[in-house]
Amino acid sequence: MTDTLTPVLTAHWDQPDIFTLDGYRRAGGWQALPKALGMPRDEVIATVRNSGLRGRGGAGFPTGVKWGFLPKGDDKPHYLVVNADESVPGACKDVPLMMATPHTLIEGAAIAAYAIGASHAFIYVRGEVLHVIRRMRHAVQEAYAAGYLGRDILGSGFNLDVIVHAGAGAYICGEETALLDSLEGKRGLPRNKPPFPAVAGVYALPTNVNNVESIASVPSIVLNGADWFASMGTEKSKGVAIFNLSGHVTTPGTYEAPLGITLRELLQLSGGMRGGHRLKFWTAGGSSAGILTDQHLDVPLDFESVAAAGSALGTRSVQIFDETTCVVGAVLRWTEFYQHESCGKCTPCREGTFWMVRLLDQLEQGHGTEDDVEKLLDVCDNITGRAFCALGDSATPPVTSAVRYFRDEFLQHQKEGGCPFDPAATTVWSAL
Ligand SMILES: Cc1cc2nc3c(=O)[nH]c(=O)nc-3n(C[C@H](O)[C@H](O)[C@H](O)COP(=O)(O)O)c2cc1C
Ligand code: SF4
Repeated sequence: MTDTLTPVLTAHWDQPDIFTLDGYRRAGGWQALPKALGMPRDEVIATVRNSGLRGRGGAGFPTGVKWGFLPKGDDKPHYLVVNADESVPGACKDVPLMMATPHTLIEGAAIAAYAIGASHAFIYVRGEVLHVIRRMRHAVQEAYAAGYLGRDILGSGFNLDVIVHAGAGAYICGEETALLDSLEGKRGLPRNKPPFPAVAGVYALPTNVNNVESIASVPSIVLNGADWFASMGTEKSKGVAIFNLSGHVTTPGTYEAPLGITLRELLQLSGGMRGGHRLKFWTAGGSSAGILTDQHLDVPLDFESVAAAGSALGTRSVQIFDETTCVVGAVLRWTEFYQHESCGKCTPCREGTFWMVRLLDQLEQGHGTEDDVEKLLDVCDNITGRAFCALGDSATPPVTSAVRYFRDEFLQHQKEGGCPFDPAATTVWSAL
């Protein structure tokens, strides 16, 4: 593992025209597809499997293994779906990636579609980001015109159509089966699993769903080889990945580094905490995982180590909060998001997130007692493991971890008859 920045996906983001076909080609783009088309499909899958690439959409499932799940030798159409719904609070990597280098994603999608035997690929983009949808559609048109998409691509006999689909803007539509329902024109609600998408996905046909960053990582792996990618990162979490730093840090932004880098190192690279302030709590994987504190500054940011620390690496959405932040207020905001985005299909999540917000709001206002903290934990307990999909399960860890590390702060609100924090002090401009 190295401890420095290793830009691969972000390497050319400072090139003004990198989003165009010409700019991408000048930076060495569109060279991986011809190489992949010259390889047997199984060899492409083996290359991605051997690279150790794990899904960048949150769960970290090995990408090449997933591709291998699609049936072989059947006569059914196969589909590739790229999950570009990016909506979890704190996440900001897929949107900048698609804005900066849409062709990396399209080239990766073409290689992935070839490997799994798909002649149709959908890129499902969150509806609110119209500028990204426009950029992706324009890049797809350029790729068709250059012969990288369409019929008999580069004389290989491989055909591929790519459709950029605009979602309507619902967090649940990032869950892969709800996404598939939405893609089919239905209301996006999670499906029962099994069957998994590899067996019955979009239109009940074999489908592979992958995150934007997972698919965009493929061209560099095909070009440089599996060993190159596997030489970076940690033993079980290989390669480089995008970390998005936001909040009370001197230079928020997008940092690409090998998995296993620590928050301490990321803070050094980003200029540290904002002037005169100290770290209070942070997330490693957005709001869907337990919060961490300054005792976790040296936890390697890989899937295993973050899980062992009681959280999850998720989407590497590193949100950083200093001592001016009220932890009760912060988890209340996140819980309001989960309540709003709960699709309502199952009772534990629909009702539970409603009660979580009520209890947290009461505690934040200073009207809550120790009993309410216990009740809050009991509600969380009744959601976790009982919800139909991972949205419900991921609403509770921020709250339970906040109580674990900052129980006194929950009670301090009651003692002081309200929130003891100054909301103005936590704003970014208060330090200016
Ligand atoms: C509520 C919810 C929202 C999700 N949102 C996204 C998303 O925006 N993007 C994404 O890639 N994965 C998201 N996921 C994970 C997907 O279900 C799926 O695991 C992922 O797209 C698989 O891609 P990967 O193997 O490349 O990581 C979400 C999951 C849940 C439960
Ligand atoms: S946990 Fe249940 S209510 Fe919540 S989003 Fe998933 S299916 Fe819908």
